[in-house]
Amino acid sequence: MSLLGMLGYFVAVWTFVTVWHGAESSRWHTWWSYDSGISGPRYWGMLNPHWSLCKKGRNQSPVNIEPKALLFDPSLNSLEIKGNAITGMLANMGYSLTLDVDLGSHWSHGVNISGGPLSYTYRVFQLRVHFSHSDTDGSEHTVEGRGFSSELHIFAFNSDLYENITSAMTSPRGILCMAIFLKVSNATNPHFERIHRALDDVLYKGDKREVSYLELRGLLPQTDHYMTYEGSLTHPACHETVTWVIYNKPVYISSTQIAGLRRLKQDTKSNPVLLMAGNIRPVQSLNQRTIRTNINLGEGACSMERDINYAVNHNYFQYQRESYSFP
Ligand SMILES: *[C@@H]1O[C@H](CO)[C@@H](O)[C@H](O)[C@H]1NC(C)=O
Ligand SMILES: *[C@@H]1O[C@H](CO)[C@@H](O)[C@H](O)[C@H]1NC(C)=O
Ligand SMILES: *[C@@H]1O[C@H](CO)[C@@H](O)[C@H](O)[C@H]1NC(C)=O
Repeated sequence: MSLLGMLGYFVAVWTFVTVWHGAESSRWHTWWSYDSGISGPRYWGMLNPHWSLCKKGRNQSPVNIEPKALLFDPSLNSLEIKGNAITGMLANMGYSLTLDVDLGSHWSHGVNISGGPLSYTYRVFQLRVHFSHSDTDGSEHTVEGRGFSSELHIFAFNSDLYENITSAMTSPRGILCMAIFLKVSNATNPHFERIHRALDDVLYKGDKREVSYLELRGLLPQTDHYMTYEGSLTHPACHETVTWVIYNKPVYISSTQIAGLRRLKQDTKSNPVLLMAGNIRPVQSLNQRTIRTNINLGEGACSMERDINYAVNHNYFQYQRESYSFP
C-alpha cells in the first residue's frame, strides 16, 4: 500500500470512528431533517435501524383526508377533557418548536383526555407546531390535497397503561395526538399570543423558555366534531402507536403570529443559516385504513351542512343513501 493510500485509509477509519462515536453519544439521534437531501423524510427509515418504520410502516402519518371517504361512526362520542392550564418549557429543537408540559407542576394538574375513540385516559405531555413559508402548505395532514397555514399537535400518553412517555411511545395504544389546523386571518388569537410573545426567546436551536398557565382549551376549536384514525409519529422513529384526532374546524391566528413562527431558526446562534419553517413530513399512504368521523354526514341537509368544514361532498352521501333505500 502506498503512503498516500495508507493515509487515506486512516483518514477514512478515523472519520468513521469519530462520526460513529459522535452518533452513539447524541448526534445520531438528531441527525435527520426535513430537507430533500439524504437526511430528509424519504431516507429517515435508512438512517437508523430503530427508525425502519419510517420506510416500511404501513400505518404512517400524516395522511390526506378525502371527505367523501370518511366513515361516520355513531359510537364516537365527544372527547372528555379534564383540566385546562398547562405549564411547561417552550423549546426550539431545531426541526421543531415544542412545549414540554411540566407533569410534576404544583401549579397545574395538567390535562387528561378520554372518551371519543379512546379506551384509556391520556395525559397531555407535549405541544408541537408545524408550519412553512406559505399559508397553504404549512400543515402535515391535508384535506382533499389542500394544506393549511400551520398544524398544532397536542400529544398525550396513555397513563392508564404506561408509566412514562418513553414506554408509551413504543407500545400499543400508547399515544394520542390531537391535530388542530391553524389558519391565518386578521384577528389575533389571544391564547396563541402567549406562545407568540415567547418566540423571541427561542429564536435559535437549543433556546428554552418557560410558559406558565397556558390555557389548552383556548387552543382548541369550538367543536366536538373530529376525524380519527390509527397512525404514527410524523418524525423519527415513526412509531405506529398514535391515535389521531383531527378537529373538523381550524383555529385562526393572525399573520403577525405566523410571521413570528417563520422567524425561528433551525440552527444555533453561531450559525443561523436555516429557518425552521417547512418542518412538514409529506403525506403517507392510507393503505387499508379507514378514517372515521362523528360528523353525521348522511343526516338531513341544512342543519348539519353548517358544521361540515372541509367541503364534505354532500351529494356523494345523498347518492349513497338513495342507492340503499330500494325496497
Ligand atoms: C390527571 O391524571 C393524573 C394521574 O395520572 C392526576 O394526578 C391529575 O390530577 C389529573 N388531572 C386532572 C386535571 O384531572
Ligand atoms: C419507563 O417505564 C419502563 C417500564 O415501566 C421502565 O423500564 C423505564 O425505565 C422507564 N423509563 C424512564 C425513562 O423512566
Ligand atoms: C379583517 O380586515 C378587514 C379589512 O381590514 C375587515 O373588514 C374584517 O372585518 C377583518 N376581519 C376580522 C376577522 O378581523
